[in-house]
Amino acid sequence: MMSLIRVYKDWLITKFIIWLKGSPFHIKVPIDYMILSITISGYLPKNLNALELFGMYGLYVTKHYSKLCQSVELWELDPEFVRYARKFCDKNVNVIQGDSVKAVKEFRLMGKYNLLVIDNPLVSPYGNGLYEHFNVMPEIFDATEEQFILIFNVILVNPKSLYEDYKFNSISDLKNRDIWIRKRMEFYGTPLEKLTPQEYVKLYSTMFEEWGLIVDYSTFLPRNHRVGFLGFALRKKILS
Ligand SMILES: C[S@@+](CC[C@H](N)C(=O)[O-])C[C@H]1O[C@@H](n2cnc3c(N)ncnc32)[C@H](O)[C@@H]1O
Repeated sequence: MMSLIRVYKDWLITKFIIWLKGSPFHIKVPIDYMILSITISGYLPKNLNALELFGMYGLYVTKHYSKLCQSVELWELDPEFVRYARKFCDKNVNVIQGDSVKAVKEFRLMGKYNLLVIDNPLVSPYGNGLYEHFNVMPEIFDATEEQFILIFNVILVNPKSLYEDYKFNSISDLKNRDIWIRKRMEFYGTPLEKLTPQEYVKLYSTMFEEWGLIVDYSTFLPRNHRVGFLGFALRKKILS
C-alpha cells in the first residue's frame, strides 16, 4: 500500500514544478523536452488524443503534457493509484482502471490515438509475464491514427545492475532477472545486455519498418542515468 505521505509529497512537488514552469523560471521536465523536440521538428499533431498505458496517479508524466491534449486516456491497474489519478489529473484525462496490456492484446481500446505514452515500470517482470513494453508491440499500433507520436521508456543500464540497485537478490528474483535478460535478447535480437541510445533508435527503427510503419523522426532523451525516453514520429504505410 502506497503511503499517504509519499502521495501528497509527490502532489506538492508536482504543483511546485508546475509553478516553476511559468514566468520567470520556465523550467522543463524530460517529457516537456521530448515534446518540444518533436514540436520543433514539425511532427506534433495539432489535436492530440493521447493514450497512456501505465498512468499511476499521473503526477510524474501525464500532468506535464495533458494540458496540450484534447483528451488523454489513462490506464492504471492499481485501484489506489486510480483513486488518486482521478483526484489529481486534469478534466480532459479519462482514468480507466484496468489491465492496459490485456486491453491492447485483446484489441479492446476504443479510441484512435495520435499520441502514445508508454511509461512502463522500470524493473521487469512487473506482472504475469510482462516485460517492459514488449507485450504491447506491435498490437498497440492498431489503435492509432495513420500518423502518430510514440514516446516510451528504455533502460540505460543492464537488468543485472537494476536488480542489484533494488537489492532484488533472492533465488526467485535472480530467476526472474535471467528470464528478463533472455526476453530482452529475444525482443532485440542481440546478445547485448546493455544497449546505447543509438542502438535503441536503430533497433526500433528497423522493427517499426518491419511492422509496416515509416519512421519520420526519432529522438532520445535521458530521464536519469537508468532510464530514458525514446520518441518517434510514425506513419502507417499505405498498402496498395
Ligand atoms: C512507472 S509508473 C507510471 C508513472 C506515470 N506515467 C506518471 O505519470 O506518474 C508504472 C505504473 O504502471 C502500472 N501498471 C503495471 N502493470 C500495469 C498493467 N498491466 N496495466 C495498467 N497499469 C499497469 C503500475 O501500477 C504503475 O503505477
